[in-house]
Amino acid sequence: KPFKILVTHPEIPAVAIKKLMQRCELVVCPEVPYSTRDQILSRVTPDLDGILWLSKHRMDKEVLDLAGPKLKVVATMAVGYDNIEVAEAKGRGIKVGNTPGVLDAAVAEITLCLLLEIARRVPEGRNCILEGRWEAVRPQWLLGKDLRGSTVGVVGLGNIGLSIVKRLLPFEIGKFIYTGHNRKPEGDKLGGTFVSLDELLQQSDFVIVSCPLTPETKFLFNAEAFAKMKDSAILVNIARGDIIDQEALVSALKNGKIWGAALDVMSPEPLPTDHPLTKLKNCVLAPHLGSATEKTRGDMAMLAVDNILAALDGKQMPAPL
Ligand code: GLV
Repeated sequence: KPFKILVTHPEIPAVAIKKLMQRCELVVCPEVPYSTRDQILSRVTPDLDGILWLSKHRMDKEVLDLAGPKLKVVATMAVGYDNIEVAEAKGRGIKVGNTPGVLDAAVAEITLCLLLEIARRVPEGRNCILEGRWEAVRPQWLLGKDLRGSTVGVVGLGNIGLSIVKRLLPFEIGKFIYTGHNRKPEGDKLGGTFVSLDELLQQSDFVIVSCPLTPETKFLFNAEAFAKMKDSAILVNIARGDIIDQEALVSALKNGKIWGAALDVMSPEPLPTDHPLTKLKNCVLAPHLGSATEKTRGDMAMLAVDNILAALDGKQMPAPL
């Protein structure tokens, strides 16, 4: 086989691995649930043509140095690439690709799931059942927040943000506002209003975080940001944990500075079981399940493989960075 590829995880969906194996010799990191950084590094060798990167570790200069000049492509099996040193790789003439688009619907679905769970206090209610405290006879018990008529603010209206909004509109939300670098015609077409971050924080009943993690968005949600939000607001983060200063979030949730939060992403991941966030009734947590559906993971793996094969053939990758 003409090419050698490092695959950093043993559980990449089989259809994609089969396709890659038709033309490439594979070196697969066998460790589950995941390899340590050193375990991955020990398998990065100068004879590699490509790397399929599925790891929370950084794909950085050290990895690229170990690989050397033969390396042609790095494909990450994720849409977010904050852990990938894209400029460093491209500077060496290495192609880099990610997996946008194919996970938009799945991530939007988990966003609605978490948003409704926190707004209607479903996990809290389940705990009440388990604890023998079913008090539904009390008319003020476990009251939540209506999505209908509410103002929803989206931070980062990319493809995922748009997919979320399209699914929220049938819930008869009152107003949709968004912020980011630029006005988006697609957002305006859906009835959205482009506002500043401050305006969004001040006006939103629901704040949805769907922007990439960059130096600019790191800790975008700090104590100052929470101070600007409504006490009745709900924060939903499906992007990256480090966009939120979690200590500030814990305080805001404890002090009633905001009403609730739902997080699919945290810092670190896995979150320690005794972390203060796990103790809060007004915080719903999911273990980074955004793209975790059978079909979506298959599509992501296939797109990553197609990125690799296109780059090896000197063709335009379907999803280049
Ligand atoms: C998941 O978080 C991804 O970036 O695809």
